[in-house]
Amino acid sequence: MKKILFYFTCIIISHSVFSQNDDSSIIIDKEEKPFYDEDLLPADFFTCRRKALRDSMPANSVAIIFSNPVRNRSNDVDYEYHQNPDFYYLTGFTEPNAILIVFKEEHNFGDFTTDEIIFVPERDPKEEVWTGKRLGTNGVEKYLKIKKALPNTKFRDFEIVFKKFDKVLLERLPEGVANDEKNPGDLFSMLQSLNMKLEKAKNTDLHKLDYYLASMRQVKQPEEIEMLKKAIDITCDAQITLMKHLKPGMTEYQTEAIVEYVFKHHGAEYPGFPSIQGSGENSCILHYTSNRKPLYSNNLLVSDIGAEYHGYTADVTRTLPVDGKFSPEEKAIYNIVLEAQQAGIDACKKGNKFWDPHKAAQAVIAKRLLELGIIKHSYEVNKYFIHGTSHYLGLDVHDAGLYNSLQPGNVITVEPGIYIPAGSDCDPKWWNIGVRIEDDILITEDQPEVLSSKAPRKVEEIENLMQQAQQSVIEEVEQQ
Ligand code: GLY
Ligand code: MN
Repeated sequence: MKKILFYFTCIIISHSVFSQNDDSSIIIDKEEKPFYDEDLLPADFFTCRRKALRDSMPANSVAIIFSNPVRNRSNDVDYEYHQNPDFYYLTGFTEPNAILIVFKEEHNFGDFTTDEIIFVPERDPKEEVWTGKRLGTNGVEKYLKIKKALPNTKFRDFEIVFKKFDKVLLERLPEGVANDEKNPGDLFSMLQSLNMKLEKAKNTDLHKLDYYLASMRQVKQPEEIEMLKKAIDITCDAQITLMKHLKPGMTEYQTEAIVEYVFKHHGAEYPGFPSIQGSGENSCILHYTSNRKPLYSNNLLVSDIGAEYHGYTADVTRTLPVDGKFSPEEKAIYNIVLEAQQAGIDACKKGNKFWDPHKAAQAVIAKRLLELGIIKHSYEVNKYFIHGTSHYLGLDVHDAGLYNSLQPGNVITVEPGIYIPAGSDCDPKWWNIGVRIEDDILITEDQPEVLSSKAPRKVEEIENLMQQAQQSVIEEVEQQ
């Protein structure tokens, strides 16, 4: 109760201060807007994406795309909602319980004719007071410019004869969708209705839609590259801030707190994947996320992080000596990974095979580990470099794409690594050294563009930055 009184007192005090003070730094909240962010992708972007999908669809076909299900965390708490990236890519819509239907041609549905329909939750003040404002059907038509929006509760009785189409293109139906019994328009109910509507249709295809969307998503539009640059820039700022503030005695979760503070401060909605802050033996665990270990002076820290900005995620890894100075062994391994990474980046050329950067990086690591006596045969490189070098990057951290040849507009990672866990079959002086260096590369008509070059990656640059006089994290981030 005391807390509540304190809270209301604060509101009254701050309100009176605000209303009496004519300081020009005071900004009054006057206008209600459907979106607070002013740099979201415009509706036209999504309209063009739907058009591109329609252009790749065969004659007399229809595509059905579902929003992601809401996932329960425990009891009455759900995980923070995240839209299905395919759904977002085609609509810009970030709410759950929605279905998008894209038709190759226009069709008449009695009182309207259209080539696209979205079913969404209708506005509902009683619900919105709990979970936030919805766009509703009017908002979707007005702000997202989807031609026809209907309430999701109308999907069940919506007349559509799927067997009349030559092809019904579907993604894999989402699994484990919870049944919200109080909501007749939830995804569960719509999937049930869809199954009934599809029952007699023998023309469904569960592969082509994935293929069309992967072909589209792997080539980034200029607006998407701008979004990725923003996410990557924020992530580089987070790595730089971490370099300046890392010291023995911190914990892995405190390093996570620093990077995620930078993400949030610069407007990223979330990390695009759980932040990996692996020190000491954990530097050798590829997808380590528990981040509970204290940091010791003789540890390396693998910091593999990515801010997600308006849907687009970065993925940048730096490996740092906790005490600010690489040991000779750490430096030797680090410089091999750096050389391998550069060989990988050099292979990021239009027309090359997707796995050419991997082959180039792997060859360097094999050669150098042989020289150091860590392996006896080059095929043993797989013992210490146990993952691929690249993946596409975009709305997903491991983004949709065809993994065939590189083309302008692809954004991929180049992230070789060497991981030597304790007990490995080599001199124990190498044990518990895990190094990964990851950058985000735009394939162009000409030379590859390293979008994450702002975050230093040479040994001396990192060591210098780690020596710099420090402001507080908060002061430092304010100035970025
Ligand atoms: N950043 C994690 C990964 O690429 O798997
Ligand atoms: Mn990655």
